[in-house]
Amino acid sequence: MRNTDQPAEDKRSLTLSRSRCCFFFLVLGVVLLYYCTSIRNMAPDWNLKWLMQNNSTNTTAELPETTSVATTQEPPTQRQRTVSSRVTKKVLETQTAQRTAAPYVSPGPYLVEYPYEYHFTINEELKCRQEKPFVVLIVQVAPRNRAHRDIIRNSWGSEKLANNQVVALFFLLGMQTGDDAEQVHRQLLQESKEHQDLIQGDFVDCYKNLTIKTMVMLEWLNSYCSSAAYAMKIDSDMFLNVPNLVNLLLKAPRTNYMTGLVAHGGRVSRDPKSKFYVPLDLISEDVYPLYALGLGYILPLDLISEDVYPLYALGLGYILSLDLTKKLIEASRHVKPLYIEDVYLGLCMRHLGIRPTEPPNWILFRVIPIKYSRCEYSKIIATTTLENMDRVWIWRDFKKPGRYC
Ligand SMILES: *[C@@H]1O[C@H](CO)[C@@H](O)[C@H](O)[C@H]1NC(C)=O
Ligand SMILES: *[C@@H]1O[C@H](CO)[C@@H](O)[C@H](O)[C@H]1NC(C)=O
Ligand SMILES: *[C@@H]1O[C@H](CO)[C@@H](O)[C@H](O)[C@H]1NC(C)=O
Ligand SMILES: *[C@@H]1O[C@H](CO)[C@@H](O)[C@H](O)[C@H]1NC(C)=O
Repeated sequence: MRNTDQPAEDKRSLTLSRSRCCFFFLVLGVVLLYYCTSIRNMAPDWNLKWLMQNNSTNTTAELPETTSVATTQEPPTQRQRTVSSRVTKKVLETQTAQRTAAPYVSPGPYLVEYPYEYHFTINEELKCRQEKPFVVLIVQVAPRNRAHRDIIRNSWGSEKLANNQVVALFFLLGMQTGDDAEQVHRQLLQESKEHQDLIQGDFVDCYKNLTIKTMVMLEWLNSYCSSAAYAMKIDSDMFLNVPNLVNLLLKAPRTNYMTGLVAHGGRVSRDPKSKFYVPLDLISEDVYPLYALGLGYILPLDLISEDVYPLYALGLGYILSLDLTKKLIEASRHVKPLYIEDVYLGLCMRHLGIRPTEPPNWILFRVIPIKYSRCEYSKIIATTTLENMDRVWIWRDFKKPGRYC
């Protein structure tokens, strides 16, 4: 009996294991498909903020004198509107950029002049040594944009102590070019005297130079503020919940730590018409890792053969442990200086083999402005704001004693 039964049972277990095997591959396929599609779906908003900024960046390389750091000039309401219509947009070609007095041969429109020995024309050399901050907030802002600086000084930027930790605030600018450059510079010197919170590097302050700005920020932190535990880069149109930031950092690792809104699988745009176009010879090694694993044979090729950026924290507001400044500067010697600032740091992080850390909660960093309420704002760390939101009023209201929710 057993003898006769045995083969049948073997066969059954064989078909069973075969169907199990098929099932496994089916599940794997579905999971991968889902993964890939969700990556695709992610693509439209991985750089939402950049897209929102499109209009403000109208003047790119051609007209540095009228440009400014993207986030600082234009009402976000307008940016919002442009998101929906971006599909039809055409990019301003920057190849024709005329660069007078460039220090050396132009690296082309997709790379920036870095590494390069930039100098500080306005500086706060002693402040960190004197104040010994736990966290340093660095707001990247255009020289002309005094209005945003004042809003920040009169709102969250005035919080110098949170949970017994010292918080320092600086604004980082480049050089204004154009007819009123002199005048702007004089005003900046005056403003610096008043507030002692400006840092200015001698690179041209414009949208295409944001990567320079960020690297100069890291150099500054490394030279003048290396005793701080953390630094946060934040855009000038953001609202920051300083106590929540400090609370997060009190529990965070002290080294190799970078966090913020971490973008996964942001696709590299190979469409020359796209605003974020990156030519193939730049970061062409970023072929999607699944493909490298040979899974290209199982799934439709175009789904997985696209180039994607490594993980990176969106530029609206990210946090670094201070040890990373030196490491990122070192890594930048080996990574081509792509003009997309936050992506560039992601590339440098990958070079270092350090993964950005996910925030403990997805709601902490908001790329889409949230409507103000004490309850909502009490749960976040940073959010973009709309131009018509009175951030000073919001901050005062938020700071009133009483329950949040
Ligand atoms: C922004 O872009 C839209 C669509 O191209 C355009 O209608 C609008 O005038 C632009 N705004 C500014 C300030 O340039
Ligand atoms: C995006 O920017 C380009 C120039 O860089 C401009 O021609 C286009 O109108 C902009 N699109 C929107 C929606 O503002
Ligand atoms: C783009 O810049 C040019 C030159 O500065 C200006 O005339 C034009 O109005 C700008 N367009 C937009 C959409 O901002
Ligand atoms: C960026 O800054 C560098 C250094 O100041 C300058 O040579 C270059 O022209 C700037 N880029 C643009 C697009 O203005």
